[in-house]
Amino acid sequence: MSELSLKRKAMQKVESLGDTVKKDPYYPSYHIAPPVGLLNDPNGFIQWRGSYHLFYQWMPFRTGHGAKFWAQLTSQNLIDWNFEGPALAPDQWYDRTGCYSGSAVEKDGELILFYTGNVKNDKGERETYQCKVRSQDGVHFEKCGVQIELPEGFTAHFRDPKVWKMDNRWYMVIGAQTNENEGCIVLYESMDLETWIFKRIVASGMGYMWECPDFFRLEEDVLLFSPQGVEENEIDYRNMYQSGYIIGDFDEGFPVERFRELDRGFEFYAPQTMMDEKGRRLLIGWMGMPDGGEEYFPTHDYHWIHQLTLPRELEQRGDIIVQKPPEELLELRRRKIIEEKGGSWEGDLSRNVEIVISDISEALNMNVYDYFFIACEKDKVVVRRPSIEGAGMEWRAAELDSPLEEIRMFIDRSSLEIFINGGETVFSSRMFLDPSATDCRIEGEASVTVWELRKQK
Ligand code: FRU
Repeated sequence: MSELSLKRKAMQKVESLGDTVKKDPYYPSYHIAPPVGLLNDPNGFIQWRGSYHLFYQWMPFRTGHGAKFWAQLTSQNLIDWNFEGPALAPDQWYDRTGCYSGSAVEKDGELILFYTGNVKNDKGERETYQCKVRSQDGVHFEKCGVQIELPEGFTAHFRDPKVWKMDNRWYMVIGAQTNENEGCIVLYESMDLETWIFKRIVASGMGYMWECPDFFRLEEDVLLFSPQGVEENEIDYRNMYQSGYIIGDFDEGFPVERFRELDRGFEFYAPQTMMDEKGRRLLIGWMGMPDGGEEYFPTHDYHWIHQLTLPRELEQRGDIIVQKPPEELLELRRRKIIEEKGGSWEGDLSRNVEIVISDISEALNMNVYDYFFIACEKDKVVVRRPSIEGAGMEWRAAELDSPLEEIRMFIDRSSLEIFINGGETVFSSRMFLDPSATDCRIEGEASVTVWELRKQK
């Protein structure tokens, strides 16, 4: 089918099921979620000609994975996003089983996208191609074909190009798996964004596959990626797959022993960053995970699944990366509904609030709608919730890098993001509970402020 017909078919799905999707009490009011179907990784995050552009992996035809599209959104303020429809559809021989993840850059005023063309060939084998797309107006996208084929030494699990410019050269990192089934990140270099030279493996040594790499500079160089096949280790690596970073050096390398998980919550994967015109390094992640129990999410009944995280501003503090809620999020505050100083607090909260807890004296126990049970000590936080897959409770935990001082939480219908100590530790998780439950309790000495938040426009 032609790209135009595929895109039309996708928009017909939006038209026929979009209203049903929005009726779901779990559909977010200020997070990005698909208008229909399945969303996964954020892609192509960039500020171009003043506007923020964000794309994501999209399966418009059902709430499962498959031949992915890129959906496109634009925004002026990082909160109110306009759905622009499908930007890429899988219509070519080199991407017919999916326009997989990738990134965006600007060159000579044009918006350029790189993505992985995923192909399952007639023998059922996987093929992978790194492809380029250009756009002069940010609305029409012209595929330019394959730029990189699979090099020797790697399996076809070779994908998710992230491109950037540094010292007048272009670089690309790709998530890969060696023939020995080791996960790694490879680096390519180009002078003209056309011809690419394989340089080296920049990091490897944990798990069997690394997806969605990213490279950027804070005070030092950072390599961000999502490894698969890392064993659970007490409080670490408790999700099906991880997302984290290594602070290292572009020339000297990224020692895998320094790997650190970026988010401690139940649902977080495949984040991507970009530098905006204010010079901020912004990150958005997928609040989901492949093979992470998505078949048990109740939103299938309303024909949609998954959402993205809020945008976060990155900052290096010593040897950790801090994820701060950007100042734009203050614009979501509609009115202050609670202000309590000291002592415990108990009351009713709706599903679109921001909670700020400060002046925390010692331990704190929170009960959020009888669903999340959050135990905070000076140096450790444990989050429990009923297992999404069925029986019992499940938990995630973090040891804090500095003594507990402040907690900021964003609740949006079916998600909770917890930022501790200004984003030194973050938990991102989905919640599926009786939409009419309102009971919340905070036990311990602290000040509590709650804002009701507005919807995305
Ligand atoms: C990560 C991922 C990527 C791939 C994309 C396909 O979630 O598996 O590696 O490009 O999703 O949708």
